[in-house]
Amino acid sequence: MRVFSVCLSIIVACLAPPEFSGGADAHAADSKARPNSLNLLQLQKKSSFRKLKRVKVQLKDDPAYRSKITLEGYPLESVLQLVPGYSTAKEDTVVVFVASDGFRATAPLRVLQNGKGVLATKISGHSEKKPWKPFLMGKEMITPGPFYLVWRGISYENKSYPWPWGVVEIEFASSEGLYPQAYPRTKEKGVRQGFVTFSNHCISCHAINGAGGSLGPEFNYPKSITEYWSKEHFVGFAKNPASYRIGSRMYPKSFLSDADFAAIWVYLSHMKGQKIKPQ
Ligand code: HEC
Repeated sequence: MRVFSVCLSIIVACLAPPEFSGGADAHAADSKARPNSLNLLQLQKKSSFRKLKRVKVQLKDDPAYRSKITLEGYPLESVLQLVPGYSTAKEDTVVVFVASDGFRATAPLRVLQNGKGVLATKISGHSEKKPWKPFLMGKEMITPGPFYLVWRGISYENKSYPWPWGVVEIEFASSEGLYPQAYPRTKEKGVRQGFVTFSNHCISCHAINGAGGSLGPEFNYPKSITEYWSKEHFVGFAKNPASYRIGSRMYPKSFLSDADFAAIWVYLSHMKGQKIKPQ
């Protein structure tokens, strides 16, 4: 919940309550020309988009409304398919969700493709004209529209899945482009593979040379984690953090294979020789 309120306070600053039109349109205008980017507000006006299949999603404890609620929208996958570059997406393609105030949430395309994401556009039963119920956040009335990414059957506490709201644009990027400091400067296949796995499952929380998230500890600077943790404990912790530390804030990565972890370790060991002081 703490992280959510941080995101909220960033988003809240610029959201226009409650119909949310002015700011969003202004944003739409300046993002028109970006390649590999899909402007959701422009798309919303097209009838072909309106014809996409819509789904309902029941949330037991929605982090925005903090209650049980049923929302309605488009399956995330069907919208992702409309982003230019979808057909040429690579293993390490990262999806960036841009909110109307510029807040950006990122997640690897591969992680998002589990069929459980829904880009909600309204509360179920609400009219198109008044899709959301405004709620008080700080001193302002806000809504999570126009597009709010939610997950069917996945807890908000699982930080591998982003729940950005106020989304107006979806963009594809490469993890090399997003995290140049973490990109291995070698052609060695195993290292590259490890980087892809690491950037898909770890980098959103663990930085390398300062590139990446800051929810978990940095893994390369000034000392590589491979210099003070054994591979065995590293993998053991990642598979089941609670077996090492009570109250660990890391979600178990038990779905990754031993080969995945071996690749991550090869990548991290390589990066030991590629230290760059974070700015
Ligand atoms: C959603 C956030 C998140 C993701 C994704 C994540 N971690 Fe973590 N990780 C954490 C946090 C937070 C900690 C801090 C320790 C704690 O709370 O127990 C941590 C700690 C660790 C530690 C212990 C190191 C230390 O010094 O505390 C290891 C090892 C680790 N993570 C490995 C991984 C690996 C490998 C991946 C990817 C397969 C990964 N983590 C993905 C959040 C994350």
